[in-house]
Amino acid sequence: MSKACCPGSFDPMTQGHLDIFRRAARLFDELIITVVVNPNKQGMFTTDERIALIEENVADLPGVTVEQWTGLLVDYARERDVACIVKGLRNSTDFDYELPMAGMNQHLTGVETAFLTTSPQYSYVSSSLVKEVFKLGGDVSALVPANVQAALDAKAGR
Ligand code: PNS
Repeated sequence: MSKACCPGSFDPMTQGHLDIFRRAARLFDELIITVVVNPNKQGMFTTDERIALIEENVADLPGVTVEQWTGLLVDYARERDVACIVKGLRNSTDFDYELPMAGMNQHLTGVETAFLTTSPQYSYVSSSLVKEVFKLGGDVSALVPANVQAALDAKAGR
């Protein structure tokens, strides 16, 4: 049985994330989407909100669950018997950021990292840009799932 995890902040999830989740779910028997909690960073959405937003969007994907984790990702992978970490890659900046983490994680426990190249229509989409554009009144509705758009609107009282 093949098992992987897709870790990230997902503050909030975007259509780009969902695309990676869907594609990764086809490659593994079991896929855990791991919302990694950074206690030093206050996000727009709470961990529980992020999880709920993701869960609604992956409910139709077989073998996919959503969990949270605080601490080293390799400890999580070992605890949950995850052999492969799956990440999306949009560009060379992502690659430069991800490669040392993949190497460190491999060094620490032998866990592998597999990269899925982003679908071209999401190559410019990130949670941080979505939040910035939304806060300044821009239309991000095509870049996030409907429940995320509703949650953004609710946060902003719109
Ligand atoms: O969505 P993000 O913020 O780019 O995700 C980055 C994340 C959370 C996957 C990465 O920071 C991580 O794995 N954090 C867990 C702590 C850890 O293991 N740090 C050492 C990495 S080698």
